[in-house]
Amino acid sequence: MEREAAELFEEFKELTASEFFRRNKQMLGFSGKIRSLTMVFHELITNSLDAAEEAGIQPDITIDLKRVDKDHYILRHTDNGPGIPEAFVTKVYCTMFAGSKFRNIQSRGQQGLGCSGCVLLSQMTTGKPAKVVSAYNEGEILKGVELTFKMDVKKNKGLILDRKKAEVSST
Ligand SMILES: Nc1ncnc2c1ncn2[C@@H]1O[C@H](COP(=O)(O)OP(=O)(O)OP(=O)(O)O)[C@@H](O)[C@H]1O
Ligand SMILES: [Mg+2]
Repeated sequence: MEREAAELFEEFKELTASEFFRRNKQMLGFSGKIRSLTMVFHELITNSLDAAEEAGIQPDITIDLKRVDKDHYILRHTDNGPGIPEAFVTKVYCTMFAGSKFRNIQSRGQQGLGCSGCVLLSQMTTGKPAKVVSAYNEGEILKGVELTFKMDVKKNKGLILDRKKAEVSST
């Protein structure tokens, strides 16, 4: 029996970037356990170096990796860069193709994929949310926020699960 175009197009859908990379995570360099973890380190460190360079700060970066079972880790990454304003945190970490480096600048990152790729991998392999603590200046005021979130892959955006004010000091 022949099927009409209208019937066939009932299944027509749009795929978000996150959904595409969920299906093709090897295209983000996430193939194999050691290579995947190496990619996460690379993405986070290059971001910290870019942010420090743009802000004119000597970078101070730490990554702490704690093994929780055979294949799972808790990774904590910190830097002394300018921070990320609260309104941008989930865009940075949960929206693919979102970033500040699309203009023609010399930087390590370019595509707005690195952070959200790390959150996607983490979510796919653990099912757990990610947490970001950001301290940033707004005018003369130093602000601090702690956000816990998941990535809504179907919408290519963040879903905030918890928000707290974070204690921050300028030193
Ligand atoms: N540690 C950080 N401090 C301040 N801003 C950051 C930090 N990490 C990421 N950002 C901001 O978030 C944006 C998105 O980061 P992301 O790594 O996803 O993409 P990118 O670095 O622009 O490009 P690429 O996909 O090539 O890594 C950056 O463009 C930058 O504006
Ligand atoms: Mg990057």
